Amino acid sequence: MAIERTLTILKPDCVRKNLIGEVTKRIQEAGFNICAMKLVKLTKTEAEGFYAVHKGRPFFEELTTFMSSGACVPMVLEKENAIADFRTLIGATNPADADEGTIRKDFADSVGENIVHGSDSVENGKIESNYFFPEHEIVANAM
Ligand code: CMP
Repeated sequence: MAIERTLTILKPDCVRKNLIGEVTKRIQEAGFNICAMKLVKLTKTEAEGFYAVHKGRPFFEELTTFMSSGACVPMVLEKENAIADFRTLIGATNPADADEGTIRKDFADSVGENIVHGSDSVENGKIESNYFFPEHEIVANAM
């Protein structure tokens, strides 16, 4: 299987619940290497830019207000089969549908406040990673 990268964001609910350490530990124990990470507070406009593909959806306003409501922690992660494996680790978008033992099942309150974001494809992972990190801030072979 190919080495892939994915972009995750530990969302404002994750930060407010003091779960940065716990969620990062689960990510690392699942074999993901962290190639970039930082703590940022998005403006509403930056959140709208990141989620531009969802513009026009009924939840867009709620989503972008939430994502700009506090600090979050974007990370670029690398691993074989990273896109699919990360989505398995975090569970379904709606925590009510997420499998037992997944990050969202254990920590998320709702579909809107669901602790983490994960890219849905390699292509989108690259676009999303570059939304937060210029190429020179993404460390190849970080391990
Ligand atoms: P994420 O993986 O970050 O990508 C888009 C986000 O939109 C998703 O996680 C959810 O948090 C959010 N989302 C999807 N559906 C809804 C909804 N019905 N109501 C509120 N937020 C939603």
